[in-house]
Amino acid sequence: MTDMIIFGKTKLADIVMQDRRALVLLPRFGIELGFGDRTVKQVCEDRNINTDFFMLMVNVFLNKKFFPDRKLKNVDIDMLLKYLENSHKYYLEEKIPYLETLIEEFISKVDHPATQQLEKFFHQYIVEVKEHLAYEDETAFPYAAALSEQIKKDPSNIADIDYHIGVFEERHDNIEEKLTDLKSLLIKYFPPSNDRYIRMRILNELIEFEDDLINHARIEDKVLIPIVEQLEKKIS
Ligand SMILES: [Fe+2]
Repeated sequence: MTDMIIFGKTKLADIVMQDRRALVLLPRFGIELGFGDRTVKQVCEDRNINTDFFMLMVNVFLNKKFFPDRKLKNVDIDMLLKYLENSHKYYLEEKIPYLETLIEEFISKVDHPATQQLEKFFHQYIVEVKEHLAYEDETAFPYAAALSEQIKKDPSNIADIDYHIGVFEERHDNIEEKLTDLKSLLIKYFPPSNDRYIRMRILNELIEFEDDLINHARIEDKVLIPIVEQLEKKIS
């Protein structure tokens, strides 16, 4: 996969053809497949999506070296929160249930005591991921949204918000790290069995999930937190 930089005039279909990882980003912006030969700019305009923000998120996701600090620190916080919330929705409603189905299938096909360990490990991991996402959805993101709303209305009156983004920063742990252990278990330690293809499918899904989570956490740590800190300074 080559790192590509997309522009407004790039055809959206070409991006997906060149890098399938772009597929997961489209629903986060409410874009459905079937956009013909329309360019990024045209598709964004059709759907009332901010083209610059779309390009920024896609470029950051597809190209590890692309991280324009100045541009990122100026993104609209409401747009960013929507994007992050939609990513969570995808993890919770699509990715995790699919991974669960694959693991279940694997366990039902493989007759080996190690499957119990795998099931336990995977289950613990999912519980942790869900807790992590719930904290952000229920505490950190609503706080950021409320802060932004309050600043737009009346920056001098935020006495009722009893939280600060430093708390989130402190407890924002790496949920993708444990995925490495899960991958190792399947690649290195799980004994050979008649499970070859399903094991490969699980690994592919885990690698994709890990990539997505790393990028997601990078946006939260390096973009969301600094933006919220800037907002907090306005009211302190
Ligand atoms: Fe998150």
